[in-house]
Amino acid sequence: MRTNEDSVTDLNPQAKQMADESMVRNLRAQAEAIWPQEVPLLRRYALPDEPRILDAGCGTGEAASRLAELFPRASVLGVDIIDSHLDFARTRHAHLAPRLAFEHQSIYELKAADRSFDLTVCRHVIHSIPYPDRVIAELMRVTRRGGFLHIIAEDYGMLHFQRGAPDPGDFWHEAPAAFGAATGTDLFIGRNILGILAALGLEEITLDYIIVDTIRVPRPTFASILEAWRDGYAEAVGELTPITRESTVAYFDQMIANIRDPRGYAVWMVPVVGARVPAS
Ligand SMILES: C[S@@+](CC[C@H](N)C(=O)[O-])C[C@H]1O[C@@H](n2cnc3c(N)ncnc32)[C@H](O)[C@@H]1O
Repeated sequence: MRTNEDSVTDLNPQAKQMADESMVRNLRAQAEAIWPQEVPLLRRYALPDEPRILDAGCGTGEAASRLAELFPRASVLGVDIIDSHLDFARTRHAHLAPRLAFEHQSIYELKAADRSFDLTVCRHVIHSIPYPDRVIAELMRVTRRGGFLHIIAEDYGMLHFQRGAPDPGDFWHEAPAAFGAATGTDLFIGRNILGILAALGLEEITLDYIIVDTIRVPRPTFASILEAWRDGYAEAVGELTPITRESTVAYFDQMIANIRDPRGYAVWMVPVVGARVPAS
């Protein structure tokens, strides 16, 4: 088992899971589930006519491409460190080039000059990496004064399923805390992000919830997210936490059945924070 001391030196402790084919499916399903509720939050930012947008940790470009479509005069740069995702994104969204571009860059050390972007987006990333405050400071550096940060800060204490056997509540109580401790990451960062942003001096901080549940999101889409998590993470959960791989699969199968049951109800509350870089 990896120790916490070993793993905090690793700036991408979920590298294997992030590069897995299950993550490609997961990002597609998450975007389908989340984007419709995210659009009004993005439209609130007062952006110039031709905004420069950065998507930090863009994965397969699900959001970067949607941002380019939502803001038709924008230039959008997506950066990531997984080349297979970047290749996928370039091919899949080629029709939006050159207004939409993808580059290999680490979000700990971006190549952009200070104040390059009007809007900097970072979705589904900061819960999975150590030192998220360093990354947010770097995002702030490349955002212009008066520009905006838009961050999806996942929190694995905000998933709720109907009780069952095995009980998903037991899994979510135990697994994320142990996984986070083993990888030097904060899987509950959704509730800690406001403090991080305030400490960095960001202004006009907002927090909204996107509700991924069996009413607002088609059951097959919601179930696809859980299936992809099961397929991508069961092995690592078995290695890094007291819950075995087999138990992890059983917990996820229970959650998937709950979502797929036409009378079942389940909800994932997804925190979305917005903030403004101080004007001076
Ligand atoms: C769960 S995915 C989210 C992808 C995308 N933001 C979306 O919403 O679809 C997290 C992404 O963060 C990327 N990532 C992790 N550490 C990174 C780093 N240091 N620099 C750039 N990207 C990073 C991973 O490679 C992965 O593609």
